[in-house]
Order: sequence, then C-alpha cells, then structure tokens
Amino acid sequence: LQIPELIRKKRDGEALSRDEFQELVSGYVLGRIPDYQIAALLMAAFLRGLDHLEVEYLTDIMMRSGSLLNFEHLPGRKVDKHSTGGVGDKTSLIIAPAVAACGVHVPMISGRGLGFSGGTLDKLESIPGFKVHLPLIRIYQLMERHGLALVGQTDDLVPADKKLYALRDVTSTVESIPLIVASIMSKKLAEGIDGLVLDVKTGSGAFMKTIERSRQLAQAMVDTGKRMGKSVVALVTDMNEPLGLKIGNSLEVEESLDTLQGKGPPDLTVLCRTLAAYMLWLGEAVPSVAEGEKLYDLAIANGKALDKFRQIIEAQEGDPRVADDFKYLPQASHRLGVEAERAGYIAGMDAAKIGMSSVLLGAGRQTVESPIDPAVGIIMSKKVGDFIDRGEAYCVLCYNNDAGLAEALRLCQTALTVSEMPVAPKTLIKEVIQ
Ligand code: URA
Repeated sequence: LQIPELIRKKRDGEALSRDEFQELVSGYVLGRIPDYQIAALLMAAFLRGLDHLEVEYLTDIMMRSGSLLNFEHLPGRKVDKHSTGGVGDKTSLIIAPAVAACGVHVPMISGRGLGFSGGTLDKLESIPGFKVHLPLIRIYQLMERHGLALVGQTDDLVPADKKLYALRDVTSTVESIPLIVASIMSKKLAEGIDGLVLDVKTGSGAFMKTIERSRQLAQAMVDTGKRMGKSVVALVTDMNEPLGLKIGNSLEVEESLDTLQGKGPPDLTVLCRTLAAYMLWLGEAVPSVAEGEKLYDLAIANGKALDKFRQIIEAQEGDPRVADDFKYLPQASHRLGVEAERAGYIAGMDAAKIGMSSVLLGAGRQTVESPIDPAVGIIMSKKVGDFIDRGEAYCVLCYNNDAGLAEALRLCQTALTVSEMPVAPKTLIKEVIQ
C-alpha cells in the first residue's frame, strides 16, 4: 500500500479500511513509516474525523499492537474504571479495593499526572515503598491472590498508543474525539476486562470543558466499547470545583483512607458509591445498580474495603501502616491559609487554577520528566454554595519550599468567586450514558 495514497484518502474525507489501518499502525510501530507521514495522517483524521467503523478498527488494531492481558482463568467478570482526569479525583484508590472486596476482579492500569490533573500512580507512590511498575507475572499473581492490581502500563502493552500519543502531543492533534476514543479504549480493553465504567469529567478542571464535548466523548467511548463486545457505562461528572477537599498525592491518599472508613467528604463519597455500584453491576455481582450501592456501603461499613486496600499496599511493597496512621505518609512542613477578600456565598472555585496552584507547590509535573513532591498540596475547607466570612481561609497551601509559593497563592486567590446571593451547590453527576 502507498502511504501517500492513504493520507490522500483521509485528507479527502474517505474512510480507511481495517487493512489500511493495520498497515499504518504496524508500519509506524515497527519504524517502517516515518513520523512525518503519520503526522499528516493524524491531522487529516483530526480535520475530517473518523466514522464508527474506523474508530473501531483503529482501537482494535492499537489494542493488539502489543501483548494483551487475559484473566479468563479467573472466575467472574473483570471490570475497571477510567477517569478522563481532574483535580482531587482520587476515586480509583477507593473504588478499586472496595469493588475487589465485593468479589469482582479489578485489573487497574493507571497513568501519571500531567498538567493540572493528578495521576493515580503518583498518588500510590506517595505511600512509602509502593511499587507500581511490576512485571506481567506479578500482575497475574496479584489478580489471582487479591483480585486486584494497581499498576502502571508495561512497555509491551499498547505500544502503538505510546508512539501515537507522543506524536499527537507535538502536532496539535490530541483534542480529536475519535483519536481520544481509540487511545483510551485500546489501553483499557487490553487489560482483559469485560466491563468498564467511564468517568468523563466536564468543566474548567477537565480535559473537556463543555458538557456537549464531554457527552460526545462519553457516547463515543460507550459505542466503541459495545461494538467491541464489552459492557460500558459512562458518567459525565462535574469538574468545575475540585473533587473532595484534599489535592496532592499523600493528601489524596489520606482522604481516600478516610472515605474507605466512611468518613469521606459527601461529594467524593457519593461519586465513589455510584461508580462502584456500576462496576459491581457490570461485574454481575448484583442484579441492579441500587443493589450495587448497598453492597458498596456494606464493604465500607464492615471494613472489608479498607482491609483490601491494606492488603494490596502490602502486596505491592508499600507500608501498610499508612492505613491506620497518616504519620507514615509524607507530610509537608509548612502551611499557609488563602483568605477570602470579602464575605458571601461561594459561587466558584476554579478547579484548573487550584490544580495549577498545587502543581506550582510541587504536587504535579510541569514537564513529563519533572520530579514531584508527594507531601505537598492544598486542603480545601469549603465547597461551592458554602458561606465564607471576610478573612476566613477557604483553603490551606501545604508546602515544603517557597519556590512556587507566591504564584500558587495568587492563583488560588483568583480561583475564588464570591456572591452576595445564596448559590446552589453544583450537581455532581450530570449524566449517565449506557
Ligand atoms: N488520555 C489518553 O489516554 N489519550 C488521549 O488521547 C487523551 C487523554
């Protein structure tokens, strides 16, 4: 096949066949097709779009570009959850052990934080000793012994996405719904799962800023998963203000442990219960989502969800004492309150600005290679709709050195909007797409 001819077809809005995608993806992964031809093809796909069949072909071919995990030898259905990323989103740390404690296997492969979005791997690594990069054989052992693995991507899983994503990043072709669907779904379906719950964030602190784009992405991922024989549900959830009250790696582990003990903040508790209930339903552990909520509540109340988290921390070489005492987690040495300049009802707390502020304190990366400080971050004391007095702190910056402090403080000050009139709290779960 002539690569320029395939680029021309896509440029002119024609659909590519499975064989043509196969030639392109495997040629690129093997280094036979240069970056400049794939870059041109990505831009053509970005501008012209891909139809349903093309998205399915691309997802399937990317998924098969490396090894596939297979847990068919284990009983029951295997499920996972994927979030498109946000600020303070620590739901994976809570629902993965809770769902596994209810008997449904969860092979969870997560990513790192980039920009103002946090990453599950960074949060887990703030637990002293915790290993996220494990060989395949260890992932299989964890699944067999604990019904759960909380790990990072191995080199041989979906290598096509690593190369294609890096090229999209430098060619302004990331924000294409068909390309995002193929990227996310190829990685998730390579985990050998039967069911997937997607948490598509929407708002200032999300990848997708508007409800329309978030809904389109959610629908496209659900459609593609279903065409590929999987059970997929997507929730579109608010990310205009941070989720929960703690932002930053060890701080988010603390809040996850609180939530696993039934002491979490209401918004995080509700979202975890709902996501877990859908996972349990897709995992066929319960006949309905309402029953899934009851089973999740029971696993929290009887301590089994927390026990499962403690077990997986120990199995992945982390210090299990963190589950009972936060003093074993890294702690920041300094704290500074961010005060409201006037009294009133909180109308907004811009998640993107608060997320960026935590990155400036050292909780996230400004480039892929930057180191992070696991101890630092931000503790919120208010939610949208709450009343605040003039001079009252609406959040506290936790930091170890003041390199980014002044800018972090400025950003947090501008993140707050106060209104004289009462403001209704935000609706957290905006839509469920099945
Ligand atoms: N996250 C991914 O994994 N892939 C994308 O294309 C966008 C976000």
